Amino acid sequence: MTSTTKHLLVLLSVVAWSLPAQADRYPVPKNPVFDEECASCHLAFPPQMLDANSWRAMMNDLTKHFGTDASLDEKRRVAIADFLNANAGGRKTGVTIDATGKPLLRITQTERFIRKHREVSPAVYQRASIKSPANCTACHANAAAGDYEERGIRIPK
Ligand code: HEC
Ligand code: HEC
Repeated sequence: MTSTTKHLLVLLSVVAWSLPAQADRYPVPKNPVFDEECASCHLAFPPQMLDANSWRAMMNDLTKHFGTDASLDEKRRVAIADFLNANAGGRKTGVTIDATGKPLLRITQTERFIRKHREVSPAVYQRASIKSPANCTACHANAAAGDYEERGIRIPK
């Protein structure tokens, strides 16, 4: 075996080994404006979990944001909209439109989320310790770091 072949084999095994660990990581790119404005009421949801159409629809009306007013000055709104647009979508996003073709605003209503949570019964989300499917950190201890891997999951009683 030539040393080039050996290097290639080592490289391939490193890649194969690191793939599963990456499978359920959604690292949130650093952005101070996004952190300040979009991680005060809930965690910073990963931009990768919705596609650009969904983020655009959300960012176009923050005055009626899931029953609260999350409106911002125009400069900050545009900065966050650009950030979300630049980091939206991707291989793991899946379908983020509803049956009528309208962009979904909730990650928790996307086909991918529903599929990944098939084994969690709806009643579980109603527990006082959880309250909502959007409360990712209740069950995913490392969600704030973009880590949704199975070993970090604990469903509170
Ligand atoms: C004033 C508080 C507040 C601020 C600020 C805020 N949000 Fe929210 N957001 C909420 C509430 C309340 C919900 C609904 C949570 C629930 O259903 O449990 C929500 C839900 C969401 C959801 C849907 C979660 C799901 O069900 O999948 C997304 C995505 C979201 N917010 C993104 C953002 C972004 C982006 C920003 C910054 C522009 C932002 N939020 C700022 C209060 C806020
Ligand atoms: C009630 C607890 C609970 C809440 C709340 C919750 N999850 Fe989960 N999540 C789970 C469980 C349990 C699994 C693993 C399901 C399985 O392995 O079959 C899971 C799996 C996942 C996976 C796939 C992980 C893997 O290794 O396959 C992702 C990604 C994920 N959740 C993201 C989220 C996001 C984002 C939120 C918030 C918007 C959220 N979850 C809210 C319990 C929860």
